[in-house]
Amino acid sequence: MPDILLLHGPNLNLLGEREPGIYGRQTLADINEQADSLCSSRGATLKAMQSNAESELVERVQRAPGDGVGFIVINPAAFTHTSVALRDALAAVSLPFIEVHLSNPHAREAFRRQSFFSDLAQAVICGFGPRGYEVAIDAALNQLGFAGTTA
Ligand code: DQA
Repeated sequence: MPDILLLHGPNLNLLGEREPGIYGRQTLADINEQADSLCSSRGATLKAMQSNAESELVERVQRAPGDGVGFIVINPAAFTHTSVALRDALAAVSLPFIEVHLSNPHAREAFRRQSFFSDLAQAVICGFGPRGYEVAIDAALNQLGFAGTTA
């Protein structure tokens, strides 16, 4: 059965201490742990990675199909608004993906309203904080055929 890849973009390693009024108090380790236990509870494997480097994220996406990944959940963070390279990598591998944001970028500065990913994404979840990852992973598990505990 295919694995789920959870990708986190730049500065998300600072979650918990980074602008808590916007991003909350949960750390990236907390988020990965919740995602991992959701996957394990359904018999699936989660692979998670955070990088501040665009090239590392591009390379991880490129490796995904050969590495047993069937679905990507990604918070591209600031690369959302800048990275044609990461967009092209996702288009190249043509794996389904869901774009997640902790905050609602549409309610913030104007430059955050543009995403290089949303038109390719199967879905975009924003503004729900860490809960957004759970919703995205639940949807990915359902689509990959891992039996659900809820509807
Ligand atoms: C973010 C929103 C982006 O605009 C910002 O650059 C981030 C985090 C979010 O999760 O709300 O780093 O992707």
